[in-house]
Amino acid sequence: MANKKRLFSGVQSSGTLHIGNYFGALRQWKDMQEEFDCVFSIVDYHALTSVKDPATLHTNTLNAFKDILALGIDPAKSIVFQQSQVQEHPELAWILECVVPVAMLELGHAYKDKVAKGLDANAGLFNYPLLMAADILLYDTDVVPVGEDQRQHIEYTREAAAKFNLAYGPTFKEPQERIMKEVAIVPGTDGKKMSKSYGNTIPLFGTKEEIAKAVMSIVTDSSGDRPENVYAIHKLLHPEERLAQLYESNKGKYKVLKEALIEDIDAFVAPMREKRSSITDADVVRVAKEGSDRARAIASAKMQEVRKKVGATL
Ligand code: TRP
Repeated sequence: MANKKRLFSGVQSSGTLHIGNYFGALRQWKDMQEEFDCVFSIVDYHALTSVKDPATLHTNTLNAFKDILALGIDPAKSIVFQQSQVQEHPELAWILECVVPVAMLELGHAYKDKVAKGLDANAGLFNYPLLMAADILLYDTDVVPVGEDQRQHIEYTREAAAKFNLAYGPTFKEPQERIMKEVAIVPGTDGKKMSKSYGNTIPLFGTKEEIAKAVMSIVTDSSGDRPENVYAIHKLLHPEERLAQLYESNKGKYKVLKEALIEDIDAFVAPMREKRSSITDADVVRVAKEGSDRARAIASAKMQEVRKKVGATL
């Protein structure tokens, strides 16, 4: 434990996960727990910048916990907690807001993109990177696994840490991003990259019927013996040697091949799907509470140091 590096990741509920998310990035998570001392936070206060319906925020948070637990994040190995339950996060964000210039936040890509898409430009959305910096800095994080779109936020985190350290003395570790390269490009049912916004997904925790419906809608062109869009997904599940015979003996029989793919996806996702459906809301509440207690113990010690450094003590 002691010599492992600390990894921190914030998880936004992004709705229904699909097999593209899984083979693209999520399958790496489970193993990161062996290499790093991991802290995972369901970042509901970040979500609050855009989710305005309380029931939706609540359900999304429960679902995000269920998703990551089903993916193999183990509360016995990692700290898993709800951001809003550890008050040191918004508290440190405020202090960082007092050392970072507005001009830096005005250059934020994520802020500019969201405003361009018509999201209301609330102050929370503007300050979002500093709440994220607080998430990371409270835990003396070494490594933050993120997608390319989050690179700037990690740069801002280092910048905020450096500005604070310069003003008040060494306090925060400057973290490194670990850009999660997509380990596989997963094609959707139309052959384009699988993505929620294209509506071409196969759900990760879907029922067999839902999987079947999506697979049957895979676009095949009748020019070749092998339906390439079917094959491209199939080979994520089995080595090509293993598929060779199936595809050889069923040349042109697209329906048979799709049915084989349905069975294989179903067999692959079934354990995760079963695990997810066995997790109750009460389980989540218990895991989250335990996780918040562990997170708070670390965060409150750090904040005590920070309050002292800035002079907020008597
Ligand atoms: N902004 C991140 C995203 O949209 C979520 C996030 C919040 C995060 N706090 C974090 C990610 C801390 C890594 C570390 O994906």
